[in-house]
Amino acid sequence: MGKNIAIVLAAGLGTRMKSKKPKVLHELCGVPMIRYVIDALKAADMEDIIVVLGYGGEEVEKVLEKDCRIVYQRERLGTGHAVMQALPELQAYDGGNCLVLCGDTPLLQAATLRLLWEKHVKTKAQATVLTAEISDPSGYGRIIKGAQGLERIVEEKDANDREKSVNEVNTGTYCFSVTELNDKLKKLTPVNAQGEYYLTDVVRLLAEDGKRVETLLLEEPADAQGINNRLQLAEAEKVWRQRIIKVHMLEGVTVINPENTYIDATVKIGQDTVIYPGVILQGKTVIGENCIIGPNTRIVDSCLGDGVKVDYSYIVEAKLAADCTVGPFSYLRSGTELSPRVKIGGFVEVKKTQAGEDSKIPHLSYVGDSIIGKDVNIGAGTITCNYDGNNKNITEIGDGAFVGSNTNLVAPLKVGKGAYIGAGSTVTKNIPDDALAIARGRQKNIANWKGKEK
Ligand code: UD1
Ligand code: CA
Repeated sequence: MGKNIAIVLAAGLGTRMKSKKPKVLHELCGVPMIRYVIDALKAADMEDIIVVLGYGGEEVEKVLEKDCRIVYQRERLGTGHAVMQALPELQAYDGGNCLVLCGDTPLLQAATLRLLWEKHVKTKAQATVLTAEISDPSGYGRIIKGAQGLERIVEEKDANDREKSVNEVNTGTYCFSVTELNDKLKKLTPVNAQGEYYLTDVVRLLAEDGKRVETLLLEEPADAQGINNRLQLAEAEKVWRQRIIKVHMLEGVTVINPENTYIDATVKIGQDTVIYPGVILQGKTVIGENCIIGPNTRIVDSCLGDGVKVDYSYIVEAKLAADCTVGPFSYLRSGTELSPRVKIGGFVEVKKTQAGEDSKIPHLSYVGDSIIGKDVNIGAGTITCNYDGNNKNITEIGDGAFVGSNTNLVAPLKVGKGAYIGAGSTVTKNIPDDALAIARGRQKNIANWKGKEK
């Protein structure tokens, strides 16, 4: 028998999202919803995946990388019609089974898909439908059972009152025998309230033909939730948020309050790190062991070594080696690279800057386009004047240099190793190693000024 194959339906418009973006590209915890479906399929050992795309398909293709095969449904004539588009690709799997599911159900878990597949195989059914019992079934297809079990699925728009009162619904997730799917799809007609080719009619045709049709009731009905609007998107994101945080906690991360901690599905965190409330970790962020993050900190696409502490700060596209400390209230921007034990204090902005081991920028500074050596101390209120209106210029500060408070470093500029800059200087010329630079107006004291004032 061939490989395990799954078809994902994602050609829909997603009208109720009120968006220019294809529905399946809307994100939950930083990841487009269709990726959750694909990842669940892969975790359930589906080796081959066919995705049916339509509206905005070229954009969707970009997130499917090379792990899916793509077919297009140019006209939206219903879920049955969508699966028909995959039939040519399905031929190689004749004799086997095939999962079919929707691209907008990101809460379905691999374990459920595996159970569905196993029940289908074990019972030798021709179709097995994943169902859910929900208190408000409106909008879903209803599961209509007779003496022989599942007889048909009736869409809300085609249902009579008795059928509408059924609480067991079709989740839109199925396992089919490829041969039977192929056969019955050819017999579909669009004779129904929506004038569409319903995939659900395949189930009815199989039952009418005396073929074995099974159902598997979903234990956690909320997992079947399809996303049709932004309210459902937010609800589903909340579920994923809790799942992601739970995994981190079970892997040894302390999350003080999971209710107000936001961690993208793509983030990695080391053991014994503590995450305080109000933390948002996004994108390709990697955090080491024994870090203390937050409260109220946002870190995006950044890499933090072990033992880093960040308090009330915002870090984007930066690399921080072990034991650095940041904050409170600092902003590390793209291209910031800190060596071990660098200290960034309060109200400091750093951009495109490397800082060597044990250097400190403790208070109220802007440091941009700079290369800072080891053991450098940057005094309070230091500003690199890196922009002359046309170009960004570089400031180099040698090992062990001491920059006095309230210094302006007018780039391009080189401050030598061990150099010393007097407080309040505006430095425009390079400073040799070990020299003292003072570049400020001399203080003049005028005696008895107070008496002469009037
Ligand atoms: C479908 C089921 C319904 C089930 C529900 C679960 C049918 C006829 N009905 O209804 O029984 O309870 O899902 O959520 O199948 N799609 C295409 N091409 C199309 C139409 C749809 O690719 O021409 C895709 C959509 O992108 C979506 C999925 O199929 O991912 C389901 O389509 P949707 O229109 O949401 O179906 P429902 O009416 O919700
Ligand atoms: Ca739907």
